[in-house]
Amino acid sequence: MQKKIISFLFIVLLLLPALALAHGHDRPEKKGILLVAFGSSVPEARVSFENIDKTVKATFQGMPVRWAYTSAIIRNKLAKQGEVLDSVAMALAKMTDDGFTQVAVQSLHTIRGEEYDDLARTAKAFEGMPNGIQHIVLGAPMISSQKDIEAVAQAVVSNIPKHRKPGEAVVLMGHGTPHPSNAFYAAMMFNLQKIDPNIYVGTVEGSPEIGDIQAMLKKNNVKSAYLIPFMSVAGDHARNDMAGDEDDSWKSILTKAGIDCKTVLKGTAEYDNMVAIWVKHLTQAVAHL
Ligand code: CO
Repeated sequence: MQKKIISFLFIVLLLLPALALAHGHDRPEKKGILLVAFGSSVPEARVSFENIDKTVKATFQGMPVRWAYTSAIIRNKLAKQGEVLDSVAMALAKMTDDGFTQVAVQSLHTIRGEEYDDLARTAKAFEGMPNGIQHIVLGAPMISSQKDIEAVAQAVVSNIPKHRKPGEAVVLMGHGTPHPSNAFYAAMMFNLQKIDPNIYVGTVEGSPEIGDIQAMLKKNNVKSAYLIPFMSVAGDHARNDMAGDEDDSWKSILTKAGIDCKTVLKGTAEYDNMVAIWVKHLTQAVAHL
């Protein structure tokens, strides 16, 4: 008898989670995608985002696609020009009100840094509210694993201008961060140099610094280099800190050191083979909705 009661209680316990889930299931299922970028206020740089938007909509036909910018500075700047872009919290609040039940949030960042950590925490906070979004799945940023590093390295190499001559170096400008994931930049350089020893990766706000790269170029007797952004958009950093005419731009520093510089003003998200890496991560997220 006691055995029967115990097994009955056991079955009830097993059913409890199913009963709890059934409660929210009277609402129709509505899946959506939220694309999250740092943002840019440079109009020419936004071709990067248009390219991602187009590819994502073509890949996930029928799924609503929304956008959020993580940078408050950029959102405020755009708002003054009459263009309203949502923060992650605002975008998810609107999706909650609009009846979305499952949302894939795709980070369009380059590395798994501070911006990504904040995004993950905000997304988690919006999951499971009463009558809200039941399930939020996060898509990984561009570089999140060794596999990603290798895929990105292949893509970077195939995007180098074809008229590059033997002996000409390629210097990529990453953003850089005080976050521990800054180490991805040196790892990226290591993997790129396994394919082509004359490719270097520096950062504007982290390590390796331009001084480190300059020393490596000198040691290898480099006389000419392509400067290419390693950021999703060719925005302010690419146009000013990399290719600008100010004394402290990378172009000025390297030119002064006797290196002939050619600049490319194209963000990584303008290349389809790079966008494919973000879309692959998004496909994995959507599969888990
Ligand atoms: Co910056």
